[in-house]
Amino acid sequence: MDREAQRIMNVLFVIVIIGLWAGGGHAYNRPPPRQTLFTPHADSDTSPQQVHISAVGKDKMRISWITDTPTPATVHYAASPDANGPSTTGTTSSYRYLLYKSGQIHDVIVGPLKPNALYYYRLGDSSQVYNFTTPPSQFPIKFAVVGDLGQTEWTKTTLQHIANSNYDMMLLPGDLSYADYIQSRWDSFGRLVDPLASQRPWMVTQGNHEIEKIPILHRKPFTAYNARWRMPFEESGSDSNLYYSFEVAGVHVIMLGSYTGFHSDSAQYKWLAGDLQKVDRNKTPWLLVLLHAPWYNSNTAHQNEPESYDMKASMEDLLYQARVDVVFAGHVHAYERFTRVYKDKADNCGSVYITIGDGGNREGLASKYIDPKPEISVFREASFGHGILDVVNATHAQWTWHRNDDDEAVVADSVWFNSLSTVPNCKV
Ligand SMILES: [Fe+2]
Repeated sequence: MDREAQRIMNVLFVIVIIGLWAGGGHAYNRPPPRQTLFTPHADSDTSPQQVHISAVGKDKMRISWITDTPTPATVHYAASPDANGPSTTGTTSSYRYLLYKSGQIHDVIVGPLKPNALYYYRLGDSSQVYNFTTPPSQFPIKFAVVGDLGQTEWTKTTLQHIANSNYDMMLLPGDLSYADYIQSRWDSFGRLVDPLASQRPWMVTQGNHEIEKIPILHRKPFTAYNARWRMPFEESGSDSNLYYSFEVAGVHVIMLGSYTGFHSDSAQYKWLAGDLQKVDRNKTPWLLVLLHAPWYNSNTAHQNEPESYDMKASMEDLLYQARVDVVFAGHVHAYERFTRVYKDKADNCGSVYITIGDGGNREGLASKYIDPKPEISVFREASFGHGILDVVNATHAQWTWHRNDDDEAVVADSVWFNSLSTVPNCKV
């Protein structure tokens, strides 16, 4: 080995030692970002693509899909595999963004449906048969939770793990496609998630990557998001697709918008206060909140952003008084779980805060943490993965975080939660 090679070896050795030291001796080799995938549309212009479903009210489902050319917004559905049941008609829309014109976006609400039941469905004129399973009407219910998905090879791995989890419903705290102004990436993302999102309800809220506002050229925010991912906001008395709530199997879920008004005079704040008032913990013992920009975060990424600290300053009291069980956020591309907290201190009646922005997007991981670790942060790790919240009954739920470890899903964090509605000193 010549002198130059020896010098390089020495430098590499020092880097490895520093890396091991900085990682606290953790044996896991954190994965690098992976490239953006493009998921093509192989079929004809009239064939359905980008199919996803979302729960509406207690026994209905919205089916959303896109065709390149006009086709009827009708769904045939049945419990039998031929899907030869009643037909329901919905609405069709499209949008423009700079030079891009979207396909025909169809939304049809079907139901009433039985809980925990398998249905088969056909879209428009197509003979292709899809199927979905409705969520249960009572415990147990299993949620998959992951944010900042994007569309890379890591996203694909995360989605495969989620598909294997036998989940009932997806909860996504923002940053879906990472289209970042290139609208064909929204179509590609829709096709990537279609195999999962056409079979189980995907309930989403939006992140900063959904804003896509351009000064002068495209002033309206959330154009693609609102057109493509319509959520059941009217049903919860909200006037905006950017915040809403719904109830499923004894769980009240609130989706908030980090990038729309959240101060005490805002429409969102007033809606949230009213929605929390309506929560009946006898009917829904569990109360979850999802939003994008985390209120608690000990990663060096995304510190001091007003969407985090201003929203927290404005709304934390509301969530605390309502005894919200868990608040899920994304934005930071890593996993972190806090203990129950309120105003930055451990509090037995506060919410557990979890950052789960580790879906696998092209920007890669947020690997640097504030040192030393704050006491209220229980577990933090910068790896891709997903979470599963298995709500077993009115009092107990198990949370597990699954790291994508060399493409295998490995349970790296696991904890049981007690619903705050059953903790004597915390009762509302
Ligand atoms: Fe984000």
